[in-house]
Amino acid sequence: MAAKAKIAVIGAGLMGHGIAQVFALAGHDVTITDSHKPSLDTAKARIATNLRELGDDERAVERVRPVAELANCVREADYVVEAVLEDMPLKQKLFGEIERYVRSDTILASNTSVMPITQIMQGLRERSRGLGTHWWNPPFLVPLVEVIGTQWTSQAAIDFTMKLHAAAGKRPAHVKKDVPGFIGNRLQHALWREAVSLVERGICDAATVDTVIKACFGRRLAVLGPLENADMVGTDLTLAIHKTVLPDIDHRPGPSPYLERLVAEGKLGFKSGEGFRKWSPEEQAALRAKVFKHLKAARASDS
Ligand SMILES: NC(=O)c1ccc[n+]([C@@H]2O[C@H](COP(=O)([O-])OP(=O)(O)OC[C@H]3O[C@@H](n4cnc5c(N)ncnc54)[C@H](O)[C@@H]3O)[C@@H](O)[C@H]2O)c1
Repeated sequence: MAAKAKIAVIGAGLMGHGIAQVFALAGHDVTITDSHKPSLDTAKARIATNLRELGDDERAVERVRPVAELANCVREADYVVEAVLEDMPLKQKLFGEIERYVRSDTILASNTSVMPITQIMQGLRERSRGLGTHWWNPPFLVPLVEVIGTQWTSQAAIDFTMKLHAAAGKRPAHVKKDVPGFIGNRLQHALWREAVSLVERGICDAATVDTVIKACFGRRLAVLGPLENADMVGTDLTLAIHKTVLPDIDHRPGPSPYLERLVAEGKLGFKSGEGFRKWSPEEQAALRAKVFKHLKAARASDS
């Protein structure tokens, strides 16, 4: 992999501008485009603000070049990452178009949260170059990037992408099969399913679920993964616990009726002021600030 690559980012929204920022900070030349002019016009200013708030090298923003035309954005790219809306026909059409403009060896990545990479990339003429890179929000603070291959993705494309992200300070994880939710969201939502179920069954309220996690194993999770933990306590003890607990844990195949009721009642969380709990604008801002501060401190302790 060239030390300095040409990266094209499609979509300058929440994720796209943050991804551009990470690659620029790593020394790459980044072009970025967005079909919504105000998003493109503000991309550099948003990146500059982030860099300043994080105490990162503000000169990195000079390596980001907003480009209005898709063709001009991707033409010279070694690597293209798409972060447009979560819309399958849109992404499929976009990659079809991108492939008309790029070199034959340019790697094409989608930052979809949950949609099958196989489906997004199936229309490519050269499917071996297509893969998924699932970044987490905010891209410049959460280290993980899941790198998802399809049945067609070449090992060379996976290797390049893993190295590119590792060199940019991310922690890439190779997802060998294109399964819904990849790895991170499968694990996260296995926990969320049981969290909802505990409230639904009247075992505790929503605030208590969150307290139990934050005051207990959540504290260890950043340094002790579940399988390290299982080895630490012993696989025999883990088996015994599973025999007792798993039959009682929620294993319904679909979403909880409790969650469906909240949505039907318009209790959508922050955006409506109430979800599992009530949220004033001040409480919402305080929680967002707390998460940002925590992630920033975690990044500092990593380095
Ligand atoms: N928000 C998250 O926490 C998160 C996390 C991981 C992955 N993702 C995924 O990343 C992608 C982007 O999400 P986001 O939160 O940044 O969305 P967003 O709405 O903030 O940004 C999407 C941008 O894409 C632009 N766009 C739409 N159509 C386009 C086109 N044809 N060409 C160029 N630009 C176009 C929009 O104008 C917008 O600026 C989605 O697939 C999403 O599922 C989001």
